[in-house]
Amino acid sequence: MTSRHPSRFPYAPGSDGTPRLSYGADYNPEQWPRAVWEEDVRLMREAGVNIVSLGIFSWARLQPAEHTWDFGWLDEVMDLLHEGGIRADLATATASPPPWLTTAHPEVLPVTATGETVWPGARQHWRPTSPVFRTHALRLVRTLATRYAGHPALAAWHVNNELGCHNVYDYSDDAARAFRAWLRARYATLDALNDAWGTSFWSQHYSDWEQILPPRLAASHPNPTQQLDFKRFSSDALKDHLRAEREVLREITPDVPVTTNFMVMPGIKGMDYADWAGEVDFVANDHYVVPGPQDRDELSFSANLTSGIAGHRPWFLMEHSTSAVNWQPVNVPKRPGDLARDSLLHVAHGADAVCFFQWRQSAAGAEKYHSAMVPHAGPDSEVFRAVTGLGRTLRALAPVAGSEREPARVAVLFDWDSWWASEQDSHPTSRLAYHREALDWYSALLRLGIRTDVVPAHRTDLATYDLVIAPVLHVVPAALAKELTHYVEGGGHLVTTYFSGIVDENDHIWLGGYPGALRDLLGIRVEEFGPLPDGESVALDNATTGTLWTDRITVTAPDVEVLARYRTGAYAARAAVTRRTPGRGSATYVSTRLGADGLTGLLPELLAPAGVTGELPSAAAGAVELTVRRDAANRYLFLVNRTDEPVALPGLTGDVLAGPAADDGLVLPPREVAVLRQPRPER
Ligand code: GLA
Ligand code: GLA
Repeated sequence: MTSRHPSRFPYAPGSDGTPRLSYGADYNPEQWPRAVWEEDVRLMREAGVNIVSLGIFSWARLQPAEHTWDFGWLDEVMDLLHEGGIRADLATATASPPPWLTTAHPEVLPVTATGETVWPGARQHWRPTSPVFRTHALRLVRTLATRYAGHPALAAWHVNNELGCHNVYDYSDDAARAFRAWLRARYATLDALNDAWGTSFWSQHYSDWEQILPPRLAASHPNPTQQLDFKRFSSDALKDHLRAEREVLREITPDVPVTTNFMVMPGIKGMDYADWAGEVDFVANDHYVVPGPQDRDELSFSANLTSGIAGHRPWFLMEHSTSAVNWQPVNVPKRPGDLARDSLLHVAHGADAVCFFQWRQSAAGAEKYHSAMVPHAGPDSEVFRAVTGLGRTLRALAPVAGSEREPARVAVLFDWDSWWASEQDSHPTSRLAYHREALDWYSALLRLGIRTDVVPAHRTDLATYDLVIAPVLHVVPAALAKELTHYVEGGGHLVTTYFSGIVDENDHIWLGGYPGALRDLLGIRVEEFGPLPDGESVALDNATTGTLWTDRITVTAPDVEVLARYRTGAYAARAAVTRRTPGRGSATYVSTRLGADGLTGLLPELLAPAGVTGELPSAAAGAVELTVRRDAANRYLFLVNRTDEPVALPGLTGDVLAGPAADDGLVLPPREVAVLRQPRPER
């Protein structure tokens, strides 16, 4: 599946030349007097830090006026880091345009759907499609790259920062022009666009490209395909900015790998990272835990999906937090042990770098209450002790660097098009939450102790999996329907849910009854959707409860078995969960939202025909998350205690690279992680 040591990952060589895991943070020395920098480097060494992301928000300091440059301070920081043996993931510094630029060129400022200007004062106040912004940004990139090409501390380039975090949707005139150009490239003719957008509806027929606008504030629901295409366009516009910066960097420093930090998180849906992953030399991700009942399941899901979009090659955790953040309504600190466990869960899913936002907690500015590696209290603190402890653990895990993730037998498909389209307005319900449904399935698999890969729907060889779960796979182009049919005919086991297979890539309904493109494969037909009002639920005869959605299902194929029926509600006695078994494969349909609890009850019945079972002793299943990495010689078992209780793992042996000794049977303390190395069996 992958090669060891992907050439473009910025590994720090250990003393014997073999790669190490990277460890570090965003470093913002410009917030501190010169005297602090030397202490920073000393403490970084103490903590085991070997890489920092530098200069992310430094534009105004590097270029204080259009024709004035000031690199002296950054030269000094780069040199100090190098002397300390610390390398730099050097930012292109284009994330936050300086006041001189936005004063001279207010036309770079984004515009909202309601026509308001997004003013400077925070960060990322730039239009992705502004030619003026692009020119100034690329001049900065070129100047920086030329200056630091060949600097021994330079390990990688960090394009901008979290592209699209605040500015993914811009409705300005620049955006309108770029949207038209994007649409021309997609559709070539106005007839094709009119057809795709269904403009016969509500008198929307276009007779000139110039008439087309972004979906700005409208009198009622804007055209759904226009909305969907605007989402695709907006993701592409930022990708285009990434490419533009990358091309300058590659021209000047062809040997330095280029990345940008993705945000694979439930609250961020604007960027199709499966589509972006091919644009960077190594995938980097940022992740923040939002406390809640499924919070660590979501961390695992995010890390797993990041690995999926990285093709299961090692990726770089660019940011997470040592403790509390500052941007939630209530910012709760992490509990003891969580800092290390959260970090190692990312490593378990293929991260070969663990970095935090940020190195030293700010004394001023909007993020002064956001935790850091060196907190306000200073190095004499629990957080800094946990930070140095993690540094030691990561050093001990050096043998893992460069190893790939061993594929699981079960996959959960994730699809940005379906996320975007299924949650648009004017639908059967506005309550559908795409990511939540996918996460519920993943939580249930974790509770059952089933190792799973979360992978992008369109870039995965399904045949490598015994069971493929496709929650709310709403957008199913003809080619995908064919691929799924082929998978099942080849003996694969497919599970899908309500509101799947409904539309094609233009958001047009597949006619003839739902679930449209998947109707024949599933052997069922639905004439009307039965979404449930808030607070209503239905009982199923398998002791689970459905909310959100129901379907009035008619079974149409002889080889369909009804796995569960509705016991209550409008469709009582009708099928709720069905399974068709053409040949050795199967196609299962779950017509309601069962939630993580219900799915935990249902899943064993879906895993059985695929022959999938847990790999851990049954007493530990659910309490411990297992992931496996491997190289040519070894397997590395990551065992993560998900609970607040000790968990015994009898019978597991191997060299302990991290965690408690396993001499007389491994016992994992609450919230702790063990990493075992075992020789890889001969195949
Ligand atoms: C993002 C940004 C950082 C910082 C953190 C705070 O990830 O990239 O600059 O704002 O959020 O959580
Ligand atoms: C109104 C409008 C129709 C249609 C319906 C939908 O009655 O006149 O065009 O939009 O609402 O309920």
